[in-house]
Amino acid sequence: MNNQTVSQVIEPNLVIEGAGVLLRRSIAPRSSNLFDPFLLFDHFAFNNPLEGPVRGFPTHPHRGIETVTYMLEGTVRHRDSLGNMGVIAEGDVQWMTSGRGILHEEMPRRGANGNIYGFQLWVNLPSAQKMSEPRYQEIVGATIPVVEKDGAKIRLVAGEINGARGPVTEIAASPLYMDVTLQPNSTFALPIPSEHTVLAYAFEGAADFGGEIAREVAMVKFNNDGEQVEIKTEEGVRFMLIAGAPFKEPIVPYGPFVMNTREEIEQTLRDLKSGAFAQ
Ligand code: CO
Repeated sequence: MNNQTVSQVIEPNLVIEGAGVLLRRSIAPRSSNLFDPFLLFDHFAFNNPLEGPVRGFPTHPHRGIETVTYMLEGTVRHRDSLGNMGVIAEGDVQWMTSGRGILHEEMPRRGANGNIYGFQLWVNLPSAQKMSEPRYQEIVGATIPVVEKDGAKIRLVAGEINGARGPVTEIAASPLYMDVTLQPNSTFALPIPSEHTVLAYAFEGAADFGGEIAREVAMVKFNNDGEQVEIKTEEGVRFMLIAGAPFKEPIVPYGPFVMNTREEIEQTLRDLKSGAFAQ
């Protein structure tokens, strides 16, 4: 099988969102849609207890996208306008399909060691599903399968590997989403469905991703030019592997909304103003 080569290694920018939350952002929604079907990847890392109180994300809307929150340390308490609430605890995943709209708040809390560490990925929805009913898939960490293979330990959130299947299903982008830890001096190869866009976010250690060295923290974008991705280590690495089928539709991002046309964004802003949003 041919290995995919790398088109870009992106160093995250530090950005401030919500009520003053500092994040590392490696991709952000743009009309160029270079990472189709993926829109955004944020990394929360509050590892210094001296930083003071952790602020969160007070009530804000979403339409036309899915937000995927994966916590490694600390928790996120969430609550929405439709009456859904809960806590995303350590090791858990929340795959939230906003569809036509939710208004929610997301409040991170420090874990036992005083840290907050996690990721939020935004996945696009195709035009036919942008106004669908909102839906949550709440996955408790203990139910996420762990697959061990060739020096790799893989927590499988979505997709299939060696006959195991991630608990998140029925997502329009047919995603693979997994947390991969590789031992030193190992080689990990993963077949990728043809046409899928592939990203890897290295957040501990370093590795050779398809011929390019990426060191924590960096987002690697592969070219869609082979049947598999191959990652080789000397010192060991941990990364999120993200792959999905592009929708190849025009997008118009506007803050927490991503629609297909300018008109749909204007309608969204009218709905928000009139109170018709998220009812
Ligand atoms: Co949100």
